[in-house]
Amino acid sequence: MTPFESIKDQLDQVQGRLLDLMHSSDPLVDSCLRQLSGRKGKLLRPALVLLSGQLAGRVRPVHIDLASAIELIHTASLLHDDVIDQADVRRGRPTANVLWGNTAAVLLGDFLLSRAFTLMSQDAPEAALTELCRTAETLCTGELKQNLFRSRSDITEDDYFSIIESKTAALFACSCRIGAMAAAAAEPQVTAAGEYGRHLGIAFQIMDDLSDIRSTTDTSGKTPGTDWLHQKLTLPVIHWLSSDPTQKESRLRMLSELDIEHLKSHLQQAGSLEYACRAAEQHSRQAREQLSHFGPSAAAEALSTLAQNILA
Ligand code: FPP
Ligand code: MG
Repeated sequence: MTPFESIKDQLDQVQGRLLDLMHSSDPLVDSCLRQLSGRKGKLLRPALVLLSGQLAGRVRPVHIDLASAIELIHTASLLHDDVIDQADVRRGRPTANVLWGNTAAVLLGDFLLSRAFTLMSQDAPEAALTELCRTAETLCTGELKQNLFRSRSDITEDDYFSIIESKTAALFACSCRIGAMAAAAAEPQVTAAGEYGRHLGIAFQIMDDLSDIRSTTDTSGKTPGTDWLHQKLTLPVIHWLSSDPTQKESRLRMLSELDIEHLKSHLQQAGSLEYACRAAEQHSRQAREQLSHFGPSAAAEALSTLAQNILA
């Protein structure tokens, strides 16, 4: 059984809602949006909204709108991210920046972001709208901080965790919080759901950063080595640089010369890939611990499985 079995029908509704939302009365813009909406993502964040709703009470029609808005914001952020990272492939297909150029990709992201907020301003509870606006700000802060740290070898693990908490885990946490809020959960449960999402998001991003080093386009649907190419130092590299102070200078020199395959083998030898895996496991465990604040249910089971699957 997949973790999404208990919300399958609602997730289909979200998918249908997204198809309706990703259109424009302008035929040219509409054709771009249609191509983007044809690339079905994993719908992980909408699933978190729905499962958190189920976990805390029940899924209501407003959850479909909230889940759709979250996915629009996520898609908008990826359109921008692919411009920033100069990425060529996403979900196994050429990125919007490759198809239509950077300017169009940024503006398509702006369009989707605006549409998400139009949707939210119609029916969503005010508290959920506030959460989403704050979270969008947090995403930008994380991405900005990452950009300001680019190629800075003095980046620490704390800096790394602060960046990924903002750019990734904040949207996971928000998905869970607004899902629980829309099910009229009490504050301690909204907090527990949010903490589940935050830890899950941290584990997810560590695994995503590992996959940038270890995967191929065939397995990830993205261009591997992108972080490396753009001097984005992620957890395994930060660990490698700091794990042996006597080697730091020579490793720093090596860093500018190594290709991704050689870097991978150095990280492997120094135990830095393993170190990052352990960190992801720890956050997956912390996510699962939050589920003890809720009674046993299909949703709790699904969220627990999801936290385990994120490590695969
Ligand atoms: C992917 O990171 C990117 C993010 C998690 C967030 C991107 C956020 C922005 C560009 C700020 C703009 C925000 C809004 C709301 C429009 P990654 O590059 O590590 O992952 P990848 O491997 O999937 O590219
Ligand atoms: Mg990227």
